[in-house]
Amino acid sequence: MTETRSDTLVLFGATGDLAYKKIFPALYALVARGMLNEPVIGIAFEDWDVSQLQARAREGITKAIGTVDEEVFAKLAGLLRYVSGDYRTQSTFDKLKDVIGPGHHPLYYLAVPPSMFEPVVQGLEQSGGATGARVMVEKPFGRDLQSARWLNRVLHMVFEEKSIFRIDHYLGKEAIQNLLYFRFANSFLEPVWNRDHVESIQITMAEDFGVQGRGKFYDEVGCIRDVIQNHLLNIMLLLAMEPPSGRSADDLIDEKVQVLKAIRTLTKDDVVRGQFDGYLAEPGVQPASTVETFAAVRFFVDTWRWKDVPFFIRAGKNLPVHMTEVVVRLKPPPLNVFDDIRPEDANYIRFRIAPEVSVAIGARRKAAGDEMVGEQIELYAVDDDKGDMEPYERLISDAMNGNGQLFTRQDASEIAWRIVAPVLDDKSAPHVYQAGTWGPTEAMATFGPPNGWIGPSK
Ligand code: BG6
Repeated sequence: MTETRSDTLVLFGATGDLAYKKIFPALYALVARGMLNEPVIGIAFEDWDVSQLQARAREGITKAIGTVDEEVFAKLAGLLRYVSGDYRTQSTFDKLKDVIGPGHHPLYYLAVPPSMFEPVVQGLEQSGGATGARVMVEKPFGRDLQSARWLNRVLHMVFEEKSIFRIDHYLGKEAIQNLLYFRFANSFLEPVWNRDHVESIQITMAEDFGVQGRGKFYDEVGCIRDVIQNHLLNIMLLLAMEPPSGRSADDLIDEKVQVLKAIRTLTKDDVVRGQFDGYLAEPGVQPASTVETFAAVRFFVDTWRWKDVPFFIRAGKNLPVHMTEVVVRLKPPPLNVFDDIRPEDANYIRFRIAPEVSVAIGARRKAAGDEMVGEQIELYAVDDDKGDMEPYERLISDAMNGNGQLFTRQDASEIAWRIVAPVLDDKSAPHVYQAGTWGPTEAMATFGPPNGWIGPSK
């Protein structure tokens, strides 16, 4: 069924950081592609007028892409409106309703902290602005299972599930879409994609920078909440899921939820937590904070396909490189016919998610010479990312069109919290690691996939 497109975009938190860094550049790109022609109403507390919002948008866009095409910007600027007001005051929503005008079906984008969801949703309902509307909400979606349930209840008081779009920007990435496509559009993978042939799966998200002035936010969150419970778990679902039975958003999400249900709840033994040396001196961080800036986590998926295959995820700040990558390592051949193949030289499939998008297959071939000895090679395909849509472009556009495929459904958001619940808010001191290393050396020496972690190298 084709959904009706939302006819207005309302951006709560229009003067904030996310709007500046990500949302305005995405709106600009959508205008440039001819994919956004509807009014965009920014709303925030600041007592601004529309020209100030336009100036802020221009600054954010220039910073993100280096230049501005005046014709495109003029079109975007012409779509912008601004409403200022307190989200706790009903008159703000009445004012907004007047600016939207009668008979419209907006998409409300809540780029505001979760504590603001409730007043905003209620304000919208009381002004009569929620009818026929959609709502898009930013991560983090709660801090734990209880708060996620509460947020879901707040949203459901006013919006139906099919009108709610919970963002995980990772799902909007080209590379993540490719991962799903590659798995189910090629038949050669399926026969080996199971516990008989896969030894382990590892997902690494390495960032070579610290908390970049976000100390206060980060210190309330930590690595597991920030990127593992959402971005990286979502990648794991795409690797572990069964083929969807159809093309609808629910067909895909149903399969992901099946995997989520089968993931064992973590225990403390499944996790190594680290904190980079110097974190405690970051502005906004508590002096004795035990928050992790690095985590390595072992998951198991109790299905026929994956029973006992370890899925490892590691992520952290101040690691040696900036890169996100998946490696599916196969079991070595049952017998060595020629040279002795070390288990760590077994075949693998590698998906690089960032900075570039590529797929590689690790294989062995005979090294030139008299002897039947081999060498490791990679069959490598890199994507030309010219013209790719950025995650926020794709997600805003999908939500305007009512396409929920790349968003997190209520059940998925809650099960993901169930899985990580026992390892959140660990008050024991994390292992300290030096910036530029792969996390706490000693603790990591004995924690990882059989036959070790692979790369990623530059
Ligand atoms: C965000 C996290 O969700 O994702 C950040 O809050 C992290 O800490 C970022 O740096 C990474 O996103 P990307 O798209 O740059 O890989």
